[in-house]
Amino acid sequence: MLLLSDVGPKQISYPSRKTPVKMQAIDALLERRSAKALTVPAPDAAALDLILSSAVAAPDHGRLRPWRFVVIQGNALERFGDLLAEHLRRQYPNSAPESLQREKQKAFRAPMIVVVAAICTPGGKIPVIEQVLAAGAAAQNIMLAAHALGFNSMWKTGGPAYDDQVKAALGLEAKDAIVGFMYVGTEASRPPVVPRPSFQDLVRHWEG
Ligand SMILES: Cc1cc2nc3c(=O)[nH]c(=O)nc-3n(C[C@H](O)[C@H](O)[C@H](O)COP(=O)(O)O)c2cc1C
Repeated sequence: MLLLSDVGPKQISYPSRKTPVKMQAIDALLERRSAKALTVPAPDAAALDLILSSAVAAPDHGRLRPWRFVVIQGNALERFGDLLAEHLRRQYPNSAPESLQREKQKAFRAPMIVVVAAICTPGGKIPVIEQVLAAGAAAQNIMLAAHALGFNSMWKTGGPAYDDQVKAALGLEAKDAIVGFMYVGTEASRPPVVPRPSFQDLVRHWEG
């Protein structure tokens, strides 16, 4: 695969990284893949600033700026784990304590979680699906920016993303959409290379 990192790469240093990061945008797009396990360090304040600045650079129809971000780290991860376990208990009141504990532990898959949500405004000129798509684009920008800065991430949803009580606990309304729980940190081991689908099978050049 053609990588452009040798062609005039931009060098950036961040306090939480031991080595300067150099990456071309096209490399970030082609190389990004989800982490299998994440650990410390999480992005520091400077890196998080860049990651969230990238998020709000996502395309957005009508300048609604529908995206919202809830950053969870430190002790708040514990509370988020409780939210996940409470959600499971509401869904399955007979859940075994081990299952609830396993669910709670999901909050600790990474040292930082960025919840990406769309504040949805129905009935306007911009369809709600486009507001959700804009938040999805912001979520993807978070993954790409994290990767470009030498971190890694995982995009998770599951039942809690669609649960009104989870939304309320995170300061959202039932009409809003959680598009992703973005787990962010440093990969504990290099994720396996997953072959990408060949785009040739997915593309048609339409000629009318
Ligand atoms: C909207 C959305 C929600 C997702 N939710 C989950 C999830 O809840 N659990 C999960 O294991 N993967 C989930 N994924 C998929 C992974 O984050 C990941 O993208 C996928 O396994 C492909 O791996 P890759 O990112 O390395 O290509 C989701 C992806 C998207 C786009």
